[in-house]
Amino acid sequence: MRRHFTRRDFIRTVSAGAAGAAGLGMTAGAASCAAGSSSATEKPAILGGKPVRTKPFPAWPVVMENDEKGWMEVLHSKEWCRAGNGHFATQFEDVWAKTLGAKYCVTTSCGTTALYTALNALGVGPGDEVILPPYTFVATMNVILMQHALPVFVDSDRETSQIDAHKIEAKITPRTRAVMPVHLGGNPVNLDVVLEVAQKHKLPVVEDACQAHTGEWRKRRVSTWGDLGCFSFQASKNLNSGEGGAILTNDPGLHEFCQSFMDQGRGAAGSGFAYARHGSNLRMTEFQAALLLQQLTRVEEQSRVREQNAEYLTGMLKEIPGITPARMYDGTTRNGYHLYLLRYDKSHFADLPRARFLQALSKEGIPCSGGYSPLNKEHFLKERINSRVYQKMYSAKELAEWEERNACPENDKLCEEAVWFFQTMLIGSRSDMDDIAGAVRKIQKHAGELQSQS
Ligand SMILES: Cc1ncc(COP(=O)(O)O)c(C=O)c1O
Repeated sequence: MRRHFTRRDFIRTVSAGAAGAAGLGMTAGAASCAAGSSSATEKPAILGGKPVRTKPFPAWPVVMENDEKGWMEVLHSKEWCRAGNGHFATQFEDVWAKTLGAKYCVTTSCGTTALYTALNALGVGPGDEVILPPYTFVATMNVILMQHALPVFVDSDRETSQIDAHKIEAKITPRTRAVMPVHLGGNPVNLDVVLEVAQKHKLPVVEDACQAHTGEWRKRRVSTWGDLGCFSFQASKNLNSGEGGAILTNDPGLHEFCQSFMDQGRGAAGSGFAYARHGSNLRMTEFQAALLLQQLTRVEEQSRVREQNAEYLTGMLKEIPGITPARMYDGTTRNGYHLYLLRYDKSHFADLPRARFLQALSKEGIPCSGGYSPLNKEHFLKERINSRVYQKMYSAKELAEWEERNACPENDKLCEEAVWFFQTMLIGSRSDMDDIAGAVRKIQKHAGELQSQS
């Protein structure tokens, strides 16, 4: 019979390594030397040597007895849809709003539909422009295109991998309807600057917090600073129900709109065939909500482990020439760590191309990714802008001007040098972090050899 992973198992797995390093009285540096020296002399795994690790990183999602109980409760209640009385969805909305310190929460079927609802709440439509970063998941742009508005990209700050908030103002025009910053990887954007510029130009802010469930700016959770904040609970996320989304707001009018819009435009009372406006079916199911309520019970604990491990990992990685972990802005009091972001400078690795570095790292047993490609250069974006629908709504001159404004040279560089590790790796042990740093050092030591045998 399948054995449940209990809360005790989780604590044991996660803290074993942490206690291991601490118990030996090792500092980050001492631990890193130990990890580095043992494996760095070995031949790289990609050239037939022994990998730094063969053990997998922690599996995701974590499933415990309470998850199954919550799920079965919905099953047996036979009320699987939230329309009408939605007991679990309503309960999760209350709990998530309280957890974040927001007045209202509205759940949706996924993060994309949360953003889509938010843009509808702000009345974004044809002829409007919405400001966003080019370094984000495609959904942030797709929802703008779904409104037949123009996505206007503001270049990235390579040091943080976030939107360069100081460059937002230059992209604002009379057509700008909203600003949509993304707390990428859980690392908060410079909200002081974003909000100052938005307020100056009287523009609403939609925070795409889809990757930032525990991110905090000046001790207040991200998603609660802008007019609306959106989350995703998709399978990879730090709070996961397979699919799912939520919108946070402190504005009763926006709350009423979102609640109604995601339920086919029904009125606040959820009345059967009485509609307050147009809308869609963007509802979360009761199963998703019940699972979220259970998964939520361990988010805080998992997040603290990620933060501690990330800090320890940063201590080691920043000492490796050519590896630069993403900086956090001064106002950041907590990083949500959906991703561990860093930049790779091949000049310190005998000019070994990033793709080969990533291959070598995965062969050492370290999952990694080169991350996004520039969203502003997506072929389908051009196709969409040149489509019959867009040509009908915007003049050729407007579209040509839009294209001229969308170059993001810093982001192009970021997309070439980025390396990501994943949140699941950060809920591992300290020795897992030692393995990551050890593998990077090992590749650096053998970079010349790897380069010549590429
Ligand atoms: C930054 C960002 N925005 C939006 C989304 C869309 O969320 P979903 O996949 O739940 O629709 C995601 C999901 O990966 C995301 O990472």
